[in-house]
Amino acid sequence: MHNEGKTKMIPFGDLSREYDDLSIEIDNTVAGLLKSGWFVLGKKVEEFEEVFADFIGKEVFAVGVGSGTEALHLALVASGVTHGDYVITVPNTAVPTVSAISFSGATPLFVDIDPDTYNIDTNKLRELVVIEKKRRGNKLKALIPVHLYGQSADMEPVLAIAREFNLTVIEDACQAHGAEYKGKRVGSFGDYACFSFYPSKNLGAYGDGGMITTKTPEQAHTLKMLRNYGQEKRYYHTIKGFNSRLDELQAAILLTKIKYLDTWNTRRRDIADFYNQNIKNKAITKPVEVSYGKHVFHLYVIRHPERDRLQAYLQNNDVQTVIHYPLSIHLQEAYKDLGYSQGDFPVAEKVAEEILSLPIFPQLRDKEAETVAELINSFS
Ligand SMILES: Cc1ncc(COP(=O)(O)O)c(C=O)c1O
Repeated sequence: MHNEGKTKMIPFGDLSREYDDLSIEIDNTVAGLLKSGWFVLGKKVEEFEEVFADFIGKEVFAVGVGSGTEALHLALVASGVTHGDYVITVPNTAVPTVSAISFSGATPLFVDIDPDTYNIDTNKLRELVVIEKKRRGNKLKALIPVHLYGQSADMEPVLAIAREFNLTVIEDACQAHGAEYKGKRVGSFGDYACFSFYPSKNLGAYGDGGMITTKTPEQAHTLKMLRNYGQEKRYYHTIKGFNSRLDELQAAILLTKIKYLDTWNTRRRDIADFYNQNIKNKAITKPVEVSYGKHVFHLYVIRHPERDRLQAYLQNNDVQTVIHYPLSIHLQEAYKDLGYSQGDFPVAEKVAEEILSLPIFPQLRDKEAETVAELINSFS
């Protein structure tokens, strides 16, 4: 229905604007790929893996897979995580971090988050690892720090704990393409790192896609077998594998789009900067960017004690917002069997009640960001 006289909705995201900017290039890319007649595991995937590895850092190898969830699952399997094992992560992540752990057969263990960055609390991580190592011994296998909202977790303490207790580190970088920690891009710190190319990510495909970065050619080789039925040579299966491949079509599109990633991340940072400067409502807590990192603002997440009322107010004034995420994973129906209850992770639980993600995407117009800030300032 057409809303005569009403302002147009400010969308939370709008990928059609990106397509408007890139349509000629994208159309040519798609047509070229269709004409090539080769759709699964070919030159485009290989080329994109090289370009992506270069983007992250010279020392990594990249393996394209079907999604971010599959990237995490395959990285866990490649690390030897299996039934009966334990893997630590945070309860305020996107649920697929935890689905991947469950799917590997392992049990997720949660640790609370830092109240300022919403990333893993590394002091609490150490306490948990000490306890769980005693209790589970070598069954405690891996840590998955999540670079939530586009900001790196504090990797030095995470890596130190992992070294001390002989644990694999798998970075969940699904929201953090191009984010930096102490001058290096995330994806180059852990034994493995996992990226998602879900369409709305900082680098998104036109469908599902994912990438694993890793440190050695041997690990990359194992991952390549795992994503392709465990085969090294066609119809000769060295290990038990899966089907989780990045499509040629998505790889070709991602190759076209990765050229813009730095510019898009800069634009996200500029919008974040605009919100930081112009949102003046005292009841709002704005995101904290840590001094040692570079945030790429996949999401710009504010807090307000009356979040639901603020969200309704923005919606009534034609501004779309989203909550990432409204219910901590330890309190979700699907994970009841883990035995956690309300109060186990007080910081994550409190944050979940107050957070709200504002529109931020490279094609958001200045005027729209201004309207968002003005509306928030007039909310009382
Ligand atoms: C933190 C995090 N981990 C994992 C995933 C899973 O990625 P995908 O949707 O590509 O499976 C996502 C994206 O939804 C995510 O945001």
